[in-house]
Amino acid sequence: MKQVINNLEELNKLAQKLAHSFKGGEVIGLVGELGAGKTTFVQFLASALGVKEKVLSPTFVLMKVYATTNIRIKTLVHVDAYRLNNSEELKNIGLAEYLGRPDTLVAIEWADKVKDILPAGVLVLNFKEGSEENERIIEMPAFSHLKI
Ligand SMILES: Nc1ncnc2c1ncn2[C@@H]1O[C@H](COP(=O)(O)OP(=O)(O)OP(=O)(O)O)[C@@H](O)[C@H]1O
Ligand SMILES: [Mg+2]
Repeated sequence: MKQVINNLEELNKLAQKLAHSFKGGEVIGLVGELGAGKTTFVQFLASALGVKEKVLSPTFVLMKVYATTNIRIKTLVHVDAYRLNNSEELKNIGLAEYLGRPDTLVAIEWADKVKDILPAGVLVLNFKEGSEENERIIEMPAFSHLKI
């Protein structure tokens, strides 16, 4: 399905709804051009899960692990594959141990660059610019249980 997001507030609402629908163990792949809103989306997700630490883009550290205050999802892992040409480096920094962990949500920016390590059930959100400055179009699989 396609979701038109008109501003940051609407992106925040979408992130909150998704965060509350997750059970833990999910892997979200975020795809879209520079400035599309991938990091901003993860910041809203983190806030919805009760992460206290400030979430910054992990472009240079590649992976950042945050503790949440959510009951089901205790850990948020934020990955940025922008600088990678293959997934080898992510294997080296230990991403695999977080994938599919039932108390963990993994969000991967530029997931299209590391397709080979994504689990079968990865949920891909594709961010595209809209016609207005703050508008974004997000393509994602339909969530039958969610009214977005
Ligand atoms: N509706 C919106 N959704 C997301 N971001 C928006 C929206 N409207 C404005 N913005 C702004 O667009 C910018 C998005 O930057 P962000 O760092 O999240 O992009 P990114 O996709 O992570 O880029 P990169 O590929 O460089 O990591 C932010 O400055 C944000 O405030
Ligand atoms: Mg980013």
